[in-house]
Amino acid sequence: MSERNERCWESAEFRDLLRVHANQPESLIEVLQKTQDLLGYLPRPALEAIAQALRVPLAKVYGVATFYSQFHLQPRGKHVIRVCLGTACHVRGGEKILRRLSEVLGIAPGETTPDRKFTLQRVACLGACGLSPVMMVDEVTYGRLSPQRAVELVLKYAAADEQVAES
Ligand code: FES
Repeated sequence: MSERNERCWESAEFRDLLRVHANQPESLIEVLQKTQDLLGYLPRPALEAIAQALRVPLAKVYGVATFYSQFHLQPRGKHVIRVCLGTACHVRGGEKILRRLSEVLGIAPGETTPDRKFTLQRVACLGACGLSPVMMVDEVTYGRLSPQRAVELVLKYAAADEQVAES
């Protein structure tokens, strides 16, 4: 994510958004959505500016931002990897897959790589127990994984991104 986006709460687009919805507490969810579209997540300075502009208590802004799973208070990677540790996946090696990906990416579950390419998450059942162990990368489900296969798949995403960047 660019430095410009990092400081989007100082940008003209963000100021316009707040001006359009000034004193409109009922627009809170819409403003949170548009802010996340601008920035990729909802940093604290942006939430404070929203609270002030819409005249909504900051605690309520946080309450809404943390209640809905669509909102993210931390930066997320371009790709979100969800490794299933539900019962079926756990008994078939889900933990080893998570550990291996964690080693290769250099981040713990719940974290994002410093280059913002990958976020690694542990999740409960992904609804594909017959394919366990399972992970999802973005919206794609991969089943019957080994730790090595999981790493290969993630590296393919990284390689594809590099190709796009070079072209
Ligand atoms: S337990 Fe992993 S998909 Fe159901």
